[in-house]
Amino acid sequence: MKYNIHLAELAMTLGATSAFPRDSRPEIVLSGRSNVGKSSLINTLLGRKSLARTSSAPGKTITINYYAIDQKFYLVDLPGYGYAKRSKDSQRQWSALTERFFLQNPSADAIRLVLQLVDVRTGPTEDDRMMIDFLRRRGLPFLVIATKADKLSPSALAQTLESWERNPIFDAAIRPIPFSAVTRAGKEKILSEIDAAL
Ligand code: GTP
Ligand code: MG
Repeated sequence: MKYNIHLAELAMTLGATSAFPRDSRPEIVLSGRSNVGKSSLINTLLGRKSLARTSSAPGKTITINYYAIDQKFYLVDLPGYGYAKRSKDSQRQWSALTERFFLQNPSADAIRLVLQLVDVRTGPTEDDRMMIDFLRRRGLPFLVIATKADKLSPSALAQTLESWERNPIFDAAIRPIPFSAVTRAGKEKILSEIDAAL
């Protein structure tokens, strides 16, 4: 598929009751803990400073943001999970919206790839394990992105990725892609994976 990544706009924000997109454009979905760097990854891929809102106050938005790329496909920014300070009420909102997206979404067939983000510094958490198990059970194609790679030295990063490859949460076939929104390392690799999935 040919597209211009710079032609990106926030096409819609999905809440508890809003309608899903009616077109069946392919979707690339971003999943991960709150604060893991989903919005920053989107901005880096698009070469934009702040199209996707990033925040130092995690877990605020419980909506699903659809970014239309050149009117050809969507990058879908899921709300982050695992934010400890989040109220029970907003945790329920997260679960309801995520279940709606994956289980009641008439355009769920359009999901081509899930980018599952995991912070290099924390490694996979219990919440990440549940999310990855869910993706596996649903048979959704996913890739693991190791975010904030700039926060580790090259040797610590290599060690971390090696230990992830042995972690039973993942499986031997999963090779996490290191990424940094600061240095843009990993950007081209992720874009080529998106191209392959589309
Ligand atoms: P929610 O929308 O709350 O779920 O968070 P998010 O996953 O979208 O994270 P976001 O992109 O807003 O980033 C959270 C914080 O991490 C921000 O302060 C970012 O500047 C910082 N951050 C994101 N990516 C990187 C990175 O690659 N390197 C470094 N050093 N900081 C990053
Ligand atoms: Mg975000």
